[in-house]
Amino acid sequence: MLEKEVINFERTVIVGIVTQNQNEEKLTEYLDELEFLTYTAGGEVIKRFSQKLEKPNPKTFLGTGKMEEISIYIKEKNISTVIFDDELSPSQQKNISKILDCKVLDRTNLILDIFAQRARSHEGKLQVELAQLRYNLPRLGGQGLVLSRLGGGIGTRGPGETKLEVDRRRIRERVNDITRQIEYIKKQRNLHRKRRETTRIPTIALVGYTNAGKSTLLNLLTASEVLAEDKLFATLDPTTRNITLANGQQALITDTVGFIQKLPHQLIAAFRATLEEVVQADILLHVVDVSHPQYQEQSHAVFQVLHELNVDIKQLITIFNKVDKIEDPNSVSALLKTENSVMISALHGHGIEGLLLLIENTIKQKTIEMHLLIPYNESNVIAKLYDISNVHSTEYREDGIYVSISLSPDQTNYFNRYAIGVEQE
Ligand code: GTP
Repeated sequence: MLEKEVINFERTVIVGIVTQNQNEEKLTEYLDELEFLTYTAGGEVIKRFSQKLEKPNPKTFLGTGKMEEISIYIKEKNISTVIFDDELSPSQQKNISKILDCKVLDRTNLILDIFAQRARSHEGKLQVELAQLRYNLPRLGGQGLVLSRLGGGIGTRGPGETKLEVDRRRIRERVNDITRQIEYIKKQRNLHRKRRETTRIPTIALVGYTNAGKSTLLNLLTASEVLAEDKLFATLDPTTRNITLANGQQALITDTVGFIQKLPHQLIAAFRATLEEVVQADILLHVVDVSHPQYQEQSHAVFQVLHELNVDIKQLITIFNKVDKIEDPNSVSALLKTENSVMISALHGHGIEGLLLLIENTIKQKTIEMHLLIPYNESNVIAKLYDISNVHSTEYREDGIYVSISLSPDQTNYFNRYAIGVEQE
């Protein structure tokens, strides 16, 4: 059931500006997205306000006249929340809340709030809370006042059971405490990863703009039940699943957080650890919602975040999803010229065989054919080899067990000591 049916939506107006770097068309696109974000957070956008400005007013972001117009409107229409598309400075936020006498949020605030509602793992919750605390600390004046006056709702929620702290000293303590916990989890994860690397099977990471269909695709490929909703950021924590390709090759596939334009830098920092799964992946599957009018800009935003994460984008498969929503398939046929790409409908399962074949071939391109000689006193290595890859043959001879196998470059590092011959496929 959609949440819309069960919760009271907060009456909201959204605000953006047209500047030299941001024309009206771009603003409309950002505000469309902000409206969707607001809906995802539990708000209903009653009206949009915009103003053409050379640069934002340092005190109130908008000009005095526009502020007055908004102030009159929100009183008349009983609006509880005003959301700005751009990040407000702490003093702007404070001044504006004073003038408008209602809750004032910005895009970052809103996204943090959505993340707070949706983080599921212990680590995800800690990361979101840390990002929220860091965002709130310099804003305590205005924000603290608003919190005490208005209580719950958009922009005031902490992740999971945790109540969002509003006291400066306790925030500092909590920041230190969370930082220590995250550091500990990170160490544990690195240990796990190291252990996994010795028996490594290829890893694939799904990346894409929020709502592109990553979770739907992961569910289809692995028949699991990762949350898939028509809301932004349904998925926050990476979920890793096993898939078996037609040739019997096993691979691990990970779903990640959806990317978005103007993704708050606090969040990129907070999720850097989680997104390490992306950085470490052998293959990236970039899911694009090709039915979205702005799919090109969305793709661009994804590459920007990958760039910020220093992801090496060598092995990339581009998946043009939601083709079922395209009325004229010819309009997108040119896209198929994109190297290593497929058209699919994750919802209806169209094009999945082609995708699996492409994944298989991409993994194959990376594998190296090896001939190994395993001494009898290390015969447990044979079981390990069967676990991780395609063993082509084994032969038990006097001096040991001869194995011919395809391995990924990383695996060859580990098994090199048994090598008696290597050839690139
Ligand atoms: P985030 O978690 O926000 O990053 O989203 P996501 O990329 O994981 O998208 P998700 O799988 O949650 O899908 C978003 C919406 O798109 C859901 O309502 C899906 O049912 C819908 N959807 C996904 N794939 C297709 C498709 O091929 N065709 C159509 N028509 N809808 C799809």
